[in-house]
Amino acid sequence: MSANILLEVNSLKTYFHNEVGLVKAVDNVSFKVKKGETLGIVGESGCGKSVTSLSIMNLVPQPRGVIEGGEIIYHGYDNPLEITTLNSQSRDMRNIRGNRIAMIFQEPMTSLNPVYTVGEQIMESVRLHQKRDNIKARARAIEMLKLVGLPAPEQIVDEYPHELSGGMRQRVMIGMALSCNPDLLIADEPTTALDVTIEAQILDLMEELQDEFNMSIMLITHDLEVIGEMSERVIVMYTGKIMEKANIDDIFHNSKHPYTQGLLNSIPQIGANKRLIPIEGSVPDLTDLPSGCYFAPRCNQAKEICWVDEPPEYSITEVQKAKCWLYDGKEELS
Ligand SMILES: Nc1ncnc2c1ncn2[C@@H]1O[C@H](COP(=O)(O)OP(=O)(O)OP(=O)(O)O)[C@@H](O)[C@H]1O
Ligand code: SF4
Ligand SMILES: [Mg+2]
Repeated sequence: MSANILLEVNSLKTYFHNEVGLVKAVDNVSFKVKKGETLGIVGESGCGKSVTSLSIMNLVPQPRGVIEGGEIIYHGYDNPLEITTLNSQSRDMRNIRGNRIAMIFQEPMTSLNPVYTVGEQIMESVRLHQKRDNIKARARAIEMLKLVGLPAPEQIVDEYPHELSGGMRQRVMIGMALSCNPDLLIADEPTTALDVTIEAQILDLMEELQDEFNMSIMLITHDLEVIGEMSERVIVMYTGKIMEKANIDDIFHNSKHPYTQGLLNSIPQIGANKRLIPIEGSVPDLTDLPSGCYFAPRCNQAKEICWVDEPPEYSITEVQKAKCWLYDGKEELS
């Protein structure tokens, strides 16, 4: 394994045994995160972005959610550690969560506890992971609130989440996630609830902190423009599977998969005389998937085989891969 790989996800399968049927939320997903890079993960709602991150954090919702196969290997220690073999609440896993891999959750209000001040929450996380005493943990909490650009951190440290605006809560979440200097930050829709000005500030802040701490970022969003500004490489997900992987330039200028092309067409072109064309149809019910390629019902390039057999992943170049029958004849990867 190359020394610059921090995290490796191999053939991950995370399923939910729901009453309505089996949902393969993450279905045979493989990718790597390099040290210091930002990897973008994009896809429409319900395609498995959050479940992929929760699997890495070993926080798949119980009892319905189960990691049924694959491996998640963390390379940040001297020896590789396979996360799926660890109990979610074990000491090793809690050590990784917080000290090594931190996550900004999609819903700030659900992950900030309303009955504790923001300072108490950051201090709790600092004390848990870094064995600091109260005075040092409070100083660290104020330092983090300052670092994420909150005004009057000495005052905010004693405020409750409901006393803050959405943008401020998001900054608190980022401060909490970064308080232990993680080497991987998983940011799940970190700016969706914010207006564009605050969004730009938060994204800038994440980039600044990335440089400062040399951390890797997994940036999850349904917004390709945000991905374009932040990421070096991109993974495009649909119905629990990876449809395309590529460098950012190839995603925008040389995308190979009809689903990626559909997402790109649906970005409004500011100032250009180009109409927004949403992808026709909707994401299928994960308990009632079509046979063949899951994108076939919405794909304007579908061929006969697409309705019958699932396409393998093809290697277009060393970096760019596409799971699509249009590339039949190229090297098959799975
Ligand atoms: N707690 C849960 N219980 C049961 N099924 C779940 C649960 N969480 C997710 N799922 C299933 O897994 C699928 C993938 O969900 P996930 O949250 O990963 O989507 P997402 O790509 O993050 O979407 P969004 O863009 O809306 O956040 C969902 O369609 C849903 O069927
Ligand atoms: S495999 Fe066929 S249906 Fe699926 S994206 Fe490619 S061309 Fe479209
Ligand atoms: Mg999500």
